[in-house]
Order: sequence, then structure tokens, then C-alpha cells
Amino acid sequence: MQTLRALILLSSGLVAAASAQTDSSLRAVATARGISVGAAVTFPGGNNIANRPAYQAALAANFNTVVAENAMKFQNLSRFGNRDTTRGVYNWGPADSIVEFALANNMKVRGHTLCWHSQTATWFNNLTGAAASKDTTLKILKEHIQLLAGRYKGKILEWDVVNEAIAQNGGTSPAYRTDSRWYSRVGSIEYIDSAFRWAHRVDSNALLFYNDFGGESMNAKGQNIYDLVSGLKQRGVPIHGVGLQAHFSVGGFDTASIGENMRRLAALGLRISITELDITNSGTVDSTKLYAQKENYKKLMALCLSVPNCKTFMAWGLNDAQSWRGANTAALLFSGTATLVKKPAYFGVVEALQGSSVVALTPAARGNLSTPSPALHRGASGGVIGATDARGAVRDLQGRSLPASVRRAMRP
Ligand code: XIL
Repeated sequence: MQTLRALILLSSGLVAAASAQTDSSLRAVATARGISVGAAVTFPGGNNIANRPAYQAALAANFNTVVAENAMKFQNLSRFGNRDTTRGVYNWGPADSIVEFALANNMKVRGHTLCWHSQTATWFNNLTGAAASKDTTLKILKEHIQLLAGRYKGKILEWDVVNEAIAQNGGTSPAYRTDSRWYSRVGSIEYIDSAFRWAHRVDSNALLFYNDFGGESMNAKGQNIYDLVSGLKQRGVPIHGVGLQAHFSVGGFDTASIGENMRRLAALGLRISITELDITNSGTVDSTKLYAQKENYKKLMALCLSVPNCKTFMAWGLNDAQSWRGANTAALLFSGTATLVKKPAYFGVVEALQGSSVVALTPAARGNLSTPSPALHRGASGGVIGATDARGAVRDLQGRSLPASVRRAMRP
């Protein structure tokens, strides 16, 4: 009896271990490594209602985190359809539905964004005279942060407290963007310091981020961002991280330089999150380009894993068709709309998380393979990208055949 029970326990343990090993979804492999991996989401607005079930199912199956692509922005919260609201009147519906979806699916939420020069409420833009004074502007910002961060208190992993406050093109560092009403009406970066302090007071568990684009590497803007956040740290402002938006193009970024920037930010005691990743293709997208894109996604996840404080990795959208960079650039991890299909880029991120020594095959792929130990093939960067099936054909880890250009580049 004892032996039988032991055998049953042993075999159920084996089954559990085997199924844990074969769950090679991005969500499973990222969660296993302590990485929050996510996508920016558009429902209920924007996304085609008819496709919402497929969209939501793909999100929950493949990510452990979401961020609202637009729903938590001041402008969106200040509108019902095309109708603008007035001060203090918020349309919480879309943002609430995203947070509820996340909680129902055991996912985390990144908050985007409490203070940004763009997509502000129309009523706020139209203020003039005393209504646009420094004091009133700070009051409006404080009220907004208290309402927004207060509503989702305890439910937000990371808030982008201030988004894109640095000018795009150099200037004396740190150079602030002058087209920000927050900056021009307040007349200084007092609004930045205050925004972090107010957010921290409202939700002391949320990690607070400065988020920007174009300064991911050791360039002039990266220096500006570094100087801004070092100043915040020196003044005792509660900032916990820097968000690197990472709106990139295939081959258009320098991982060594980004790594150096990440390490100097980490040395300030800050986290570094990849917050809005998309990697565009140009021209007609063919499978050779999709495999080059895969290597780009993969090396960014590998970079994130190689620095101490990079724990969050967010794509700016789920599927190419709905990317703000344009469907034709095929910038994201999924293709398709009604049926969502994992792209090579998706498997690139998975492979980086698995490390090249661990390979998990889908049941479909295993069915095609010569057992017990199929010959695995690696790409230029060493990651496993294919295996030889029973008939000697090389297939990817989903069991699909690989394009000739990719097969040529492989080494066993
Ligand atoms: C973009 C959204 O993706 C679009 O749908 C919207 O029309 C404009 O904003 N930096 C940011 C994001 O911080 O909020 C922006 O999102 C992309 C650039």
C-alpha cells in the first residue's frame, strides 16, 4: 500500500514536472525567471470588439502583465466618446476594465501615465490667465495624481509618474521640453519632484518611474535623463526606476551602449524597465526579416537578463495589426487579428528567457521530431531555432518548416 501510494505520488510529481517543462509560453518562462512580461492593451476602445475574445485569451496565455496603451492618459480619462469632460469628471470605464481583466487573470498592471505633456485633457489645454498659473497647474496635477493613483492604489506594479519631460535634441543637460504645459506653466521642474512625492504618498507600494524614449543608450538624451534622475535621487525624491520606451527598428539600436546606460542607472539604485518595446521592419516583410527581428527581440531580453535591475519587459501592443507604428512594419510579437499567431520574435524572447541550454518543444513539434533526441540547430547567436524531424527536414520549435535563408545560417 505504502509503495503504491509512493508510486502514485512519484508519478504525479513526474507528470507535474513534465508539464511544467513543456509549458514554454512566454508567460511561463518569464514568470519562472521573475520577469514581468507584458503588452500594451487597447480594449475596450480601439480594438475590434469581435476579436476581443481571441485578443484577451492571447494576452492571458502569454503575458503576466498589462499596461493600458491609452486608457489611463489624462485625455482619455477626460472624455466620454467624443465629449470632453470638465475638471474632476473622469471616465473610468476603459481603465477599470483593463485593471479588472488583469486581476481576474492573475496579471500585474503597469500604470501609464500620471504626467505627460501629450494627450492631456482638452479643458486643461484651454486654460488661460490665472487658471493657468503655476499654483493652479500644480493643484490640477496633484488632484489628478490623487484621483488616478488613488483609484488603483495597491493594484499597480510600476507607475510612469512622469513621461517624456526631456527635449529630444540635446541642449545643456538636462534640457527640458518646452512644449509641455506642465513645464511652461509651472516654470521649472518643480512639477516633476512634486509628482513623484504625491504619487508615493498616494500609493507607497507602487514603484515610481521616469519614462522616456530616444535616450536608451549612451547618447546626449540618455545623458540628460541620467542627469535628471540623479538630481531627483540627490533631492530625496521617491523615484525607483527609469523606463526605456525602446521604440526601435530592426538593426537600429546598439545593445552594448544600452547595456552601459542600464548599468550606470542601476548603479544609482534604480530599476530599469523596458516599457514600450516595438521593433519595426521596413519595406516588404518576408521571413528573412522576421528572423532578423527575432534576433533583435532576443538580444534585448538577453540584455535585460544580464543587468541586475531589469525586471519588466513590455511590448507596446499585442499584434502587428494594431501597432501604433503601423501594421505594415510588423513590429510586435504576434501577427493576425481574429486568430493571433506567435511570430519568430515571440520565440526569440522565449529562447532568451530559457537560455540556450534549455529547450521546450510543443507537443505538435515533438510529434514531428526524430526521437528520442532530435538534432537541434542553433542560430548565429547560439539560440536553438530548429530541429530535424523524422524525415530529415529542419523545422522550427513549433513544427513548421523554416525558410531556406534561415536554414543556411544555422549550425548544428
Ligand atoms: C501612443 C499610442 O500607442 C497611440 O495609440 C496614441 O495615439 C499615441 O500614443 N510614447 C508613449 C506612449 O509614452 O504613450 C505613446 O503611445 C507612444 C510614445
